[in-house]
Amino acid sequence: MVALVTYMHWLSKDVPIGVELPGRGLVSISRPRSPSHINGEIVYKTRCAICHGEDGKGHKHENGEGYMFPPL
Ligand code: HEC
Repeated sequence: MVALVTYMHWLSKDVPIGVELPGRGLVSISRPRSPSHINGEIVYKTRCAICHGEDGKGHKHENGEGYMFPPL
């Protein structure tokens, strides 16, 4: 607990009190595409398939034991 409190104290060093700092809290994000299974397929193919596989079955380690990238 002492270590945690010390760390939090260190994090707030030189931070002004009562000022809203950039990066704090949740920000609203823009949504470039509306939700749909077609858009989901585009996202999967461009962002996920390289690791999880085109079929979503993941990739095992070369020795066949366990997954390097798990199935989804
Ligand atoms: C650079 C490789 C990589 C990419 C790209 C990637 N993942 Fe993963 N993903 C992983 C790895 C590695 C794990 C396992 C992490 C762990 O076990 O700590 C994982 C775990 C997951 C899991 C949890 C699976 C489970 O059974 O626990 C989900 C769900 C997932 N990824 C979805 C996605 C989605 C959706 C995308 C695309 C938007 C994506 N991943 C892109 C590598 C990747």
